[in-house]
Amino acid sequence: MTMFKVLLSVAALAAVSLPAQAQFAKPEDAYKYRASVMFLQSQHMGRINGLLKSDKPNLSLVAENAAILDMVNRLSFTAFPEGSDMVANSRAKAEVWSQSAKFKQYADRLNGDVGKLLAAAKGGDVAATRTAFQATAQVCKACHDDFRRD
Ligand code: HEC
Repeated sequence: MTMFKVLLSVAALAAVSLPAQAQFAKPEDAYKYRASVMFLQSQHMGRINGLLKSDKPNLSLVAENAAILDMVNRLSFTAFPEGSDMVANSRAKAEVWSQSAKFKQYADRLNGDVGKLLAAAKGGDVAATRTAFQATAQVCKACHDDFRRD
């Protein structure tokens, strides 16, 4: 491939990966997308939780799971286009949109805490890893308490 073609395909990829909300053809797709992402989040949180039950947790496995979380976290919050709480099965509260600044704060907090979790696990610091994991789990819960119907 010539350099020009490489640059073109990189540009095409970048365009596709822009998290524009308008990319969903219908609200149902946005709901499916975020539910899939949150399912992944809960799987990897569960695996980290399991690993941290050990007295000597395998922090490189924790770091692998945290790296996945670090990536997928960013995806779910691009998938809340207005009106998509009307989709059957959606438990999103109207506050996701009427209090969007607060919603975004939780999303940012989650990214920050997962960043700390990843750094602590990579650095081999068990205590800091546990602390960051607790903080992460608390943000999941806090946002659900405020923005998800029971
Ligand atoms: C910024 C707020 C926010 C944060 C942070 C958040 N969630 Fe959610 N989550 C939601 C909302 C809102 C819904 C409901 C979405 C819907 O039903 O349309 C949801 C739904 C879910 C669901 C149900 C998906 C389904 O099948 O319908 C799971 C599982 C989940 N979240 C896991 C997590 C985990 C694990 C974390 C932390 C790593 C997390 N969430 C962090 C807002 C958040």
